[in-house]
Amino acid sequence: MYSEKVMDHFMNPRNQGEIPDADGIGEVGNPSCGDIMRIFIKVSNDVITDVKFQTFGCGAAIASSSMATELIRGKTLKEAWDMSNKAVVEALEGLPPAKVHCSVLAEDGIHKAINDYRIKNGLEPWEEK
Ligand code: FES
Repeated sequence: MYSEKVMDHFMNPRNQGEIPDADGIGEVGNPSCGDIMRIFIKVSNDVITDVKFQTFGCGAAIASSSMATELIRGKTLKEAWDMSNKAVVEALEGLPPAKVHCSVLAEDGIHKAINDYRIKNGLEPWEEK
């Protein structure tokens, strides 16, 4: 039921942990399942130079955070903002329909971390589409 990519990122998550001196932190939760995700970013010249996550949740949420952090590392804040959960699901070679909402947590966590950075730097937060 899960792709090999999902299993790989669930068993060997990339970028797991925290960045103590992060420039932006995003914490999101899904009230229906109770899962929580935190995204930490380091930013230099508008580029995400480092990113880590902590996810207290299901396997699909862990695999999604792992893949999402891989996808946004080295990207500009705008590129990272525009990365949808669909891109995460595609990179994971699919998620079962009942688990797609887990990848939304990663998109939301990244958005929160980016806006946390923007607010801390006196910039207008970007609006969700
Ligand atoms: Fe809650 Fe996956 S079941 S994020």
